[in-house]
Amino acid sequence: MSSMKYPSPRRDASVVEEHFGIKVADPYRWMEDPDSQETKDFVDQQNAVSQPFIESCSEREEIKRELTKLWNYPKYGVPHRHGKKYYFSKNNGIQNQRIDHRVEVRCQNYPEVLTKIKFSPLTWTHDSKGIFYGYYPDHVTGADGRDTASHDNQKLYYHRIGTPQSEDVLCVDFPEHPKWRVEGEVSDCGRYLLVCPGVDCQDNLVFFADLEALPNGITGKISLTQIIFKFEADYQYVTNTGSKFVFRSNKNAPRYQLICIDLEHPEEKNWSILIPEHESNILEWATCVDQDKLVVCYMEDVKSILKTHDLNSGAVLHEFPLGVGSIVGVSGEKKHSELFYKFSSMITPGIIYFVDMSTKNPVPKVFIKTEIEGLDESKCEVKQVFYPSKDGTKIPMFIAHRKDEKLDGNSPCLLYGYGGFNVSLTPSFSISQLFFIQHFGVLAIPNIRGGGEYGRTWHDGGRLLNKQNVFDDFVAAAEFLVQNKYTRKEKLTIKGGSNGGLLVGACLNQRPDLFGAGVAAVGYDSLYIRMCHNALPELGHKLNRTQPVLYIVTPTFARREQVAELTRLAQTLLHVSNMIWFVIEDATECLPMVGEHLARHQIPYVHMVSPLPEMFLGKGKKPRGVSQRNAAIQWILTHPELPDGVLYFADDDNTYDLRLFEDIRKTKKVSMFPVGLLANTGVSSPVVMNGRVVGFSDPWFAKRKFPLDMSGFAVNIRLLSYNPSRVPMPFIPGYQEDKFLQGLVSSWEDIEPLAENCTKVWVWHTTTVETPAGSFRSNSPGTNLQDLFQELQSTVMDMIRFHKFTIGHAWCSDFGNPETEEHFKYLLTYSPLHNIRVPEGDVQYPCVLLTTADHDDRVVPSHSLKFIAELQQTLREVQKQTNPLLIRVETKAGHGGGKPTSKSIEEITDVLCFLVKTL
Ligand code: UGA
Ligand code: MN
Repeated sequence: MSSMKYPSPRRDASVVEEHFGIKVADPYRWMEDPDSQETKDFVDQQNAVSQPFIESCSEREEIKRELTKLWNYPKYGVPHRHGKKYYFSKNNGIQNQRIDHRVEVRCQNYPEVLTKIKFSPLTWTHDSKGIFYGYYPDHVTGADGRDTASHDNQKLYYHRIGTPQSEDVLCVDFPEHPKWRVEGEVSDCGRYLLVCPGVDCQDNLVFFADLEALPNGITGKISLTQIIFKFEADYQYVTNTGSKFVFRSNKNAPRYQLICIDLEHPEEKNWSILIPEHESNILEWATCVDQDKLVVCYMEDVKSILKTHDLNSGAVLHEFPLGVGSIVGVSGEKKHSELFYKFSSMITPGIIYFVDMSTKNPVPKVFIKTEIEGLDESKCEVKQVFYPSKDGTKIPMFIAHRKDEKLDGNSPCLLYGYGGFNVSLTPSFSISQLFFIQHFGVLAIPNIRGGGEYGRTWHDGGRLLNKQNVFDDFVAAAEFLVQNKYTRKEKLTIKGGSNGGLLVGACLNQRPDLFGAGVAAVGYDSLYIRMCHNALPELGHKLNRTQPVLYIVTPTFARREQVAELTRLAQTLLHVSNMIWFVIEDATECLPMVGEHLARHQIPYVHMVSPLPEMFLGKGKKPRGVSQRNAAIQWILTHPELPDGVLYFADDDNTYDLRLFEDIRKTKKVSMFPVGLLANTGVSSPVVMNGRVVGFSDPWFAKRKFPLDMSGFAVNIRLLSYNPSRVPMPFIPGYQEDKFLQGLVSSWEDIEPLAENCTKVWVWHTTTVETPAGSFRSNSPGTNLQDLFQELQSTVMDMIRFHKFTIGHAWCSDFGNPETEEHFKYLLTYSPLHNIRVPEGDVQYPCVLLTTADHDDRVVPSHSLKFIAELQQTLREVQKQTNPLLIRVETKAGHGGGKPTSKSIEEITDVLCFLVKTL
């Protein structure tokens, strides 16, 4: 019998529900109440079992020390040119600080580097005298208060450098098509202006004009010739030779091809195909370098392929030697011979290559390599294999290990999977993975169905009534690894988080004989973020990198007042230059209304969704806007090429005096200023004496070190750092600003008081009177809002009741709706909670570790608690079961108040210790 003594929580036999004639017992239903003392006690009892087990691992301190050492490594972006200097960003990732270096690359060394970032339209005229820009002239005329709600009618203007904007000339407009986005692009040769109007994110038209044919230069409306007449495909300008234009298009080619359109004979019958659509690979992008070469990136079986083609014939000239990984950045230009690209893989944190494309056989040279102390990539290898699943489907899998790993079947192996919601697992780097490869054994990541790796059919192949395919694919991966001696079943651990936690739970139940252990993680590394639209490629040219950029982050959520709030905020921000607006919804699906609203304003923006995790939806005050703010921070940190700047949280119910924005742009570290509080008619402000902050004045002081309002401070982005297990802003209502600032400000001396030494109120926190119609709440059944909420990251162990939790019901897209008989019966076949049984024969249940975080000490994911309770109950009296069945719930009490990074390292350390003890 197990040496472990597990808690014996109360089983409430009275909770039995009948659906479609099937009775389902739910004896641990009470665990769904995170606030009850009984639930909290249960959590403590579980930790009292798991913690000593993990801590008895003798290598724990060593693992932790090693991981801490590896954790901090610098991250670089691809070089970009600004003026005559070449910049690349560097993020040192040190502890909880980000240090952003502007490193100057001497012009002599790299005489002509690229000025063009992938896909960002080049709008300068080639005489460098002016720029084309899309503009909504109707906007600014609304200062008199007249309804300016129409942000349609975008027009293309030309601005001559050195002249006032009032002299800019209107070049292109389409008054009969107010919805069209109108932007200009100047051809590589400088002669042509291309205008490719679009309405949504896909499909566009193409018009052009010959700038040299304008008798007096750009002095007014330019007459355009239309060559694409229907919104039915994408046409992306790549380059041109005289009138012969190359476009990347998916017209009749879902995987994209390069086509040639001669502007002098633009009829479709005269088009030619320069690079035909590949039978399976997706042509992701193409860029022209060194006059007549096309550098083309393909996605082949989830990994990148980079080739040079001849611009004239389309023939392949050369293929770049790439490891198994992804191209994550590029910069190159037709008139220059230099090309930079950045490669990353499971064992490669990042290498930026430099290639002189004018040489006959271009050889990439390492330009900057991210070095990690103790990592020697040449001692590791990563490969891709293909294995057949149960139904014969060919599944790709990445496998990484040390080269000297014997592969005699004795290596520990970590098999990681997700398999859902159209998520693609492209090979990427992570420290904990690397650590595993270096010190433990083999890491395997299969691209199982349910993901988006091969488009829609791959996702559909693993959802709803096909969900079992996901488990079969994962099981087949395990069998492949065992058969090919990468590991053996006792040494094989399966791991996953969120939907991947469900995968682990289902596979442990279905094939307990095949695995040594299973780890299902729920943590903030699974913070759910989805990009709705990143407008920086098309609008980023509006940013001026020589000045700090304002990163303005607005959490928002669907309710009656939302349009009004966003409109007001947008009207204000239209007057603020050099900013990026992050508008992030508390939802799992992008609300088209918000997207349309943003697209109309042409403020450089990033639109994402990031819902409040389900576990915080319990009773009491919700930590509002936190996941969204963290999502923005994470996004900023993972895009080191972004310019320096200042982060400001602008809730959607704030009102601003424009003087504030120029003031906060100066923020060196952390600035603070007064906030007018209309909610309780007061003010929240730092107390300033002799130009120094000496205290705070806030109506709700609580026990806060920084009793401030969210809108009362700004932070230089260099100070930010992101940590997956404990994101920068904690999910603690009322204490978010305080805890966030505590992580950033070590001394009040560092605080810069703004708004004329905190004597002015330039921001108000207004309050929106709640409309009684609760129908705008996400949890109101029968409203359209139900459709707004889809996936949510948290382990889903109880498939029958997942939809009852406020956001969970939107998981129906992959799991189906348990309220329909067909889906209910199907769910019951794999729901981890309902399929726990004692394994047959002498097989015991694999070792189990569920990990979950409990960030405000109150709430825990009930799915995991119920699953572990049921598992322990089923197996506690079983003689053969010696494998431990554990859950690690991170609570504040259990771990003390460490720094975010150390929390994360601690969690990974604990998982590794569990593996050390069980494998
Ligand atoms: C106050 C602070 O102004 C917030 O920044 C802070 O997050 C919050 O307290 C807290 O400590 O919990 P309060 O006025 O009470 O916020 O909250 P709201 O103004 O309703 O919400 C703050 C932001 O979160 C808004 O931008 C709002 O759009 C967003 N929000 C609110 C959501 O995304 N989801 C919700 O369900 C509610
Ligand atoms: Mn508010």
